[in-house]
Amino acid sequence: MSEETTHFGYQKIPVAHKTKRVSRVFESVAEQYDLMNDLMSLGLHRWWKKLAIARSLIQPDNTVLDLAGGTGDLTQEVIKQLGPNGRVILADINAAMLAKSREKLVNRGILQGVSRIQANAEDLPFHNNSIDRILMAFGLRNVTFKEKALKEMARVLKPGGRMVILEFSTVTSKPFGKLYDAYSFSVLPKLGKWLCNDEQSYQYLAESIRVHPNQEELKSMILAAGFNRCDYQNIQAGVVALHIGYKIKPV
Ligand SMILES: C[S@@+](CC[C@H](N)C(=O)[O-])C[C@H]1O[C@@H](n2cnc3c(N)ncnc32)[C@H](O)[C@@H]1O
Repeated sequence: MSEETTHFGYQKIPVAHKTKRVSRVFESVAEQYDLMNDLMSLGLHRWWKKLAIARSLIQPDNTVLDLAGGTGDLTQEVIKQLGPNGRVILADINAAMLAKSREKLVNRGILQGVSRIQANAEDLPFHNNSIDRILMAFGLRNVTFKEKALKEMARVLKPGGRMVILEFSTVTSKPFGKLYDAYSFSVLPKLGKWLCNDEQSYQYLAESIRVHPNQEELKSMILAAGFNRCDYQNIQAGVVALHIGYKIKPV
């Protein structure tokens, strides 16, 4: 019987190996992750994340899940919108990224209203209908079973809640796409080598973006997972897309 495979960038690997390979990427880049994000996107990722938070319409008493929260960029902004009864849960599969989030949040004096847990998006340790808002920035691309993760998000979200996914997507302009490809495959891995001594992880980044579902495919997956409605908007000609899944009825 042939083994089930999945993408790891352009490579096809056994599904059982993907989580470990992705973990190695983030263990390797955790220390320089924030600096690399600023350099790679020329600071634009900060604006993309602010837009995702604005579109999630957080209320002061909400329980917000920052899924695949990494070093806590979203968490540190979301907490500003919450009152004393609101809270943010930063969940990530990777211990090194969680450790960086702890360091960053503590250094910024963000201690109240935030909990951090190590969890796989495919198997969320939350009750059904218990979370008001879910934000996932640049995480879904790395998940082995994306359909499973989307179903889990639909399960834990409260009816009336929103899930906002910010992810690299498919560029909609051909001339710009050529420039973007040149940048992704020539400049990014070199930056990775220079700053993290890790060219391969940034080669993986460029490749994983190309094999990720495009805007319409992701929208279909979100609806198939049990969300009642999904809208999306392209940002910077589709370099990034922001998908919003609405849960109206219990799943
Ligand atoms: C590119 S980083 C994004 C971090 C943060 N959300 C941001 O936007 O800066 C991707 C994160 O997804 C996490 N991740 C990958 N697979 C995951 C999974 N199956 N469940 C939860 N987190 C996962 C990684 O550990 C990593 O921290």
